[in-house]
Amino acid sequence: MVTRKECIDPFQTDSVLLDQMLDWSRQHIRNGPDPRSGAKSFASLQRLLGDSITEDGMKGDAAFALFTDVIVPSTRPLNHPSSLSFVPAAPTPAALAFDAALSSAEIFAGNWDGASGAIHAENQALSWLADLAGWPATAGGVFVAGGTNGNLSALHAARVAWLKHHKNRPPLWQILCSAEAHSSIDAVARVMDAELLVIPADDTGCMDIDKARDALAAATGVFAIVANAGATNCGAIDDIAALADMAAHFDIWLHVDGAYGLAALADPRTRPQFSGIERADSFIVDPHKWLFSPFDSCALVYRNHLLGAQAHGQQGVYLDTLDQQAWNPSDYALHLTRRARGLPLWFSLVLYGTRAFASAIAQTINIAEQIAEGIKRQDNLQLILGPQLTVILFRANAIADEALDSWAEQQRRSGAMLCLPTSWRGEKVLRLCIVNPKTDPEYVLNVLKTLG
Ligand SMILES: Cc1ncc(COP(=O)(O)O)c(C=O)c1O
Repeated sequence: MVTRKECIDPFQTDSVLLDQMLDWSRQHIRNGPDPRSGAKSFASLQRLLGDSITEDGMKGDAAFALFTDVIVPSTRPLNHPSSLSFVPAAPTPAALAFDAALSSAEIFAGNWDGASGAIHAENQALSWLADLAGWPATAGGVFVAGGTNGNLSALHAARVAWLKHHKNRPPLWQILCSAEAHSSIDAVARVMDAELLVIPADDTGCMDIDKARDALAAATGVFAIVANAGATNCGAIDDIAALADMAAHFDIWLHVDGAYGLAALADPRTRPQFSGIERADSFIVDPHKWLFSPFDSCALVYRNHLLGAQAHGQQGVYLDTLDQQAWNPSDYALHLTRRARGLPLWFSLVLYGTRAFASAIAQTINIAEQIAEGIKRQDNLQLILGPQLTVILFRANAIADEALDSWAEQQRRSGAMLCLPTSWRGEKVLRLCIVNPKTDPEYVLNVLKTLG
């Protein structure tokens, strides 16, 4: 008997397996995820996956079944319309299918040489975002894996720019941000060995501008201000115009963290809430959050792309043959090899047009407003805040803290809804974040009726 190893050539196309995998993808995109799927314990995964990696390998259909029958059902389907916790996802079926095609093309998109067409197209999507922000033709950047990397790369560029204009390093590097800044800003500060100058937020979660001004006047090592454009926990948008004035006055970089919220730049009715962004130095927005694209994708844009390139360009003798003058995405963030993860956004923009994005964002905001109105009308609930963009905070009048967790777990398990508690001003409350135009407000309000 021959062993599997002797008879299988991994580089020989197994058409049956290929068709099986492509058929599954087609069906999965058509049907959408199962809202009841979710994390399994280590022990049960150990049992279900067994010793999956062996010397001889296993038959194709059995190997793929581990993915379809074990791995996928043990994941949280953030892109289901009833998934309303964290910042969920809502990729269009076309964007998901395009992403599968993109993966098949196996494009190295770190430099122009490897992916000129893909990079040119990605840059068109970045230009659309830069235009919405009112930025000049000098704007440009790159798609990175997520908001955390986007924030890190932007803030590194901010510090390099600061060093160009100042002779001496301060004894302590500082980044000024709101108490409602995303946890990634704290993570970035730790990586950069910088201190966070955390400014308290007001009752709606916006940075207190007077306190920020006082803190800046007293500080000596601040090289960047981070403004929230849609704080994750409460949806607050800081007064970006006031922060732009401050950044100009103190000659420091203004970075706007719009990983979730800046998608709403696409909606002309909401755009004025970001007033002042036209004077910022960098921003991020994650297409995988509220721009209907698949994981993982964060658009990082610099007002002057050269400042990004000064901070991030990599040199190496084996890279010398590349055209350094060309647009090389590896110059704009902390990475070299990358997939062209901005292309699904570009494809959706090409396919549907920018008006469809504007109306999908507006529709989502409308859904959040209907849910908040419904919460106000329900005796068992009390609206605390929102919607700010599409985030809503509320309390269940008759439910004790401990019971909230079991209610949320029950809803998750049954597939009814993902609505997890968060904390607001020290109180355990419920939070919804809507990014999917297919979320049904009546359905959500009916589920919330079960809260006592
Ligand atoms: C405002 C904000 N910034 C940054 C991040 C981090 O983004 P990512 O999870 O893509 O790294 C998030 C994630 O939810 C966010 O909401």
